[in-house]
Amino acid sequence: MIEKVIEGKAYVDGAFIECCIGVEEERIVAVKKVLKGEETIRFKKGLILPAAIDVHVHFREPGFPQKEDFSTGTKAAAFGGVSCVLDMPNTKPPTTTSASCRDKISIAERKAYIDFGIYAGVTKENLEQLCDISKVASAFKVYLGGSTNTEAFNMDLLNVLASKTLEKVFAFHAEDEKCLSMNRIKENNLRDHAISRPGECEKKAVKEILRVFSTSTNHRVHICHVSSAATMSDLTNKPEWVTVGVTPHHLLLTSKDNLTFKETYYKVNPPLRSPVDRDSLWDAIIKGTIDVLESDHAPHTVEEKEQEFEKAPSGIPGTETMLPLMLYQFIKRDIPLSRLISLACEKPAETFGINKGKIEQGRDADFIVVDLKSIISIKSEELHSRCGWTPFEGFPAVFPKDVFVRGERIIESRELVGERGFGRFVESEGLSKESP
Ligand code: DOR
Ligand code: ZN
Repeated sequence: MIEKVIEGKAYVDGAFIECCIGVEEERIVAVKKVLKGEETIRFKKGLILPAAIDVHVHFREPGFPQKEDFSTGTKAAAFGGVSCVLDMPNTKPPTTTSASCRDKISIAERKAYIDFGIYAGVTKENLEQLCDISKVASAFKVYLGGSTNTEAFNMDLLNVLASKTLEKVFAFHAEDEKCLSMNRIKENNLRDHAISRPGECEKKAVKEILRVFSTSTNHRVHICHVSSAATMSDLTNKPEWVTVGVTPHHLLLTSKDNLTFKETYYKVNPPLRSPVDRDSLWDAIIKGTIDVLESDHAPHTVEEKEQEFEKAPSGIPGTETMLPLMLYQFIKRDIPLSRLISLACEKPAETFGINKGKIEQGRDADFIVVDLKSIISIKSEELHSRCGWTPFEGFPAVFPKDVFVRGERIIESRELVGERGFGRFVESEGLSKESP
């Protein structure tokens, strides 16, 4: 008899079917009409979906635990239906060496409620060590424009990266530093911030990445958080080896909105832009040019965000609200849920080589249960990030009721039942330009 059977209406192979999902030793072992289990959990109401993978979070450990740590960050992610996160390198110290990557992994192993991987940052100093680092880190992050607590990587060295044979993805923060410095103005508000970091600088960086990496035989590249119509127009016929990510804040907020809070709370890189830019991102979601939904969860404290505009750090929290906001939006906009599952689960898994993201035999048993009619209004005091605020206050959303990670229920009827330290480092299997 199978260890555990989860029964209900589940998203399997592109359709919703009434079925039984058999789980043994953390993985899905069968999906059938009928299965007998030592333990059976039956969901009469709601839909069973694969859990989301958030490939872009800044959990701030080591260095800034007052903003977030692996315990609060992964708890927040879990409540939002995320079973695995990839953490960014701009911590203190930054994860730019094998040793600092190992240290971060051991901190996270002690504290995480869900599974995780980590990025190593690429700098001109560690170029010779990337091969060794690739044995420890899940992926590489390259900042082409300076941002919070990180400097820009010199664009002239991109060809050195493209010539390396490393079976890990390069993820780019695509804003061209030279272009940014030419456009920089004194900033008093969000419009100034968008003028200081125009869409043209993003477009320029993306063009250069595509040009340099098109001559490489080795690498797939991921362009993080695209934000402008200018960039999207260049990506319409992008090659197979490029994936593109988008955040909920660029899909739902613009610098021209009547915003609820002080403008510093919406200061982020790349910036919030115009309604035309925002609409181009929704078009790209529908057409399939955008592959991945990522939160770019970048918490800062209220004290930091209460400073004057120029001083306040850039970054918006969002791992807990990413999937709930989008579940609501996709239903409202009548976009098929299959598209959202591809963006939040399937493509992140495929892009970063993670054995999750689909309800099929052999994958990790990571699911969520959602009732699409259960729409609530987001309240910051009900969220779990240590930063204690959200730019999405009052936005409608659909939160999962139950969340399973490797067969264990960690959220039950909206209550945390999982344990700190349960989360594990995930392997990302070899990724070359030709795979999968
Ligand atoms: O707005 C941002 N905040 N953009 C980044 O690239 C970094 C992030 C952070 O770490 O706060
Ligand atoms: Zn980021």
